[in-house]
Amino acid sequence: MREQLLIGGEWRDGAEGNRISVLNPATGEEISSVAAGTPADAHTAVDAAAAAQVLWAKRSPRDRAEILRACWQKLLDHTDEIADLITAENGKPIADARGEVAYAAEFFRWNSEETVRIHGMIGTAPSGNNRIIVRHPPVGVVVMVTPWNFPAAMITRKVAPALGAGNAVVIKPPKETPLTALRIADLLQEAGVPEGVVNVVPTESAGSWFDAATEHKATRMVSFTGSTEVGRVLLRRCADRVLKVAMELGGNAPFIVTGDADIDAAVEGAMVAKMRHSAETCTAANRFFAEASVADQFTEKLAAAMNGIQVGNGMDAAVGCGPMINPSAVETITQLVDEAVSAGASLVSGGQAIDGPGFFFPPTVLGNVTPGAPITHQEIFGPVAPVIPYTDVDAMITQANDTEMGLAAYVYSGDLAQGLNIAERLESGMVGVNRGAVSDPAAPFGGMKQSGLGREGASEGIYEFCETQYIAANW
Ligand code: SIN
Repeated sequence: MREQLLIGGEWRDGAEGNRISVLNPATGEEISSVAAGTPADAHTAVDAAAAAQVLWAKRSPRDRAEILRACWQKLLDHTDEIADLITAENGKPIADARGEVAYAAEFFRWNSEETVRIHGMIGTAPSGNNRIIVRHPPVGVVVMVTPWNFPAAMITRKVAPALGAGNAVVIKPPKETPLTALRIADLLQEAGVPEGVVNVVPTESAGSWFDAATEHKATRMVSFTGSTEVGRVLLRRCADRVLKVAMELGGNAPFIVTGDADIDAAVEGAMVAKMRHSAETCTAANRFFAEASVADQFTEKLAAAMNGIQVGNGMDAAVGCGPMINPSAVETITQLVDEAVSAGASLVSGGQAIDGPGFFFPPTVLGNVTPGAPITHQEIFGPVAPVIPYTDVDAMITQANDTEMGLAAYVYSGDLAQGLNIAERLESGMVGVNRGAVSDPAAPFGGMKQSGLGREGASEGIYEFCETQYIAANW
């Protein structure tokens, strides 16, 4: 286990010797503590990244690609160790944690293949007077702020393309899950990433840490995954230095079941879209719109599937829903459920927080939820499925789009043309049609509206970490 800051390839105790306590959310007990970085440590880390980046960017694309591929293999070789760390500090079921390691590693394999395909362009100016040459150099030093819900994958989804493009990075992992981040950085160095190219500085002083890192003149970009609320604050701070930004923010995904859908398939997809990683994902289905003729059937079958999930410590292989990350998450979910029930929703299953130790909320289904209820406007980030019956498709689509978010959406329909037609009308960056999962390193992950800026993964993901330079040339 690594419990120190990683700066310039050295493991350090941090400028003031403070520690961050890391808790197991399944027990509420401390499992470890890590060095707490200060704003001065963040500044030093950017210095180290800036020095390392110059040499890293000079390595050939093939050379960087081979190192990225070695990182993919290294993470896979340590699947069990990393998965155990993820479950210990995040709480998710161990099978989900192992799945996350494979997902996290895949960002390195995918981006190793993209690293040798960062293409520019050469053309002739319309006047015929000169050539137009377009190239894509790296941005330089990228500051990354990552969330606790995917302690491994949300780091690798950023680090792999950033390194492939020739950048160096300074990561602020979440204070809840720093152990996975530190161990991954350790493994990346073992796989051949040069010292200083990846720096990890956990902290409890997020605001001043961020200011120090982004006020450093070498920092050129911020990549953030987290809530829209925090994203707005970081965007304002980045504006002062006109930093390039990539933002993966909150969601409020509608899950639509049309009257002719295969209900068993829809329930299966709903369970994936809702319950993956204990329902703590920004792509999680947040509102279920079921056509009135099938709403009762869908609700009952969904409740049966939710009731079949065992809740408990994610280390137990039989558990399908682990703890929430902290007590305040349980309080928020409880409040949303209580408000929906007071407003007339029926409690079909679950509904009450489970006594500790640990921070548990059971899989819950709410029937006949009114479209305006607070639970339909707020990201639940927990195992609660509010079902809203609908009769008119156009009105339902208006309701589905009635949110400032636009990350993921899902449609189940027996008629593919109808499913695609609805998908095209949804204001969401990603839509699953007869499918409950959209995440894939080979696909562009990201949101419309206030769910974010930019895309991660796919071919465009690596260009987020590049500049565009144009050269007008006569020869
Ligand atoms: C997230 O919840 O932030 C990411 C989910 C995913 O990549 O599937």
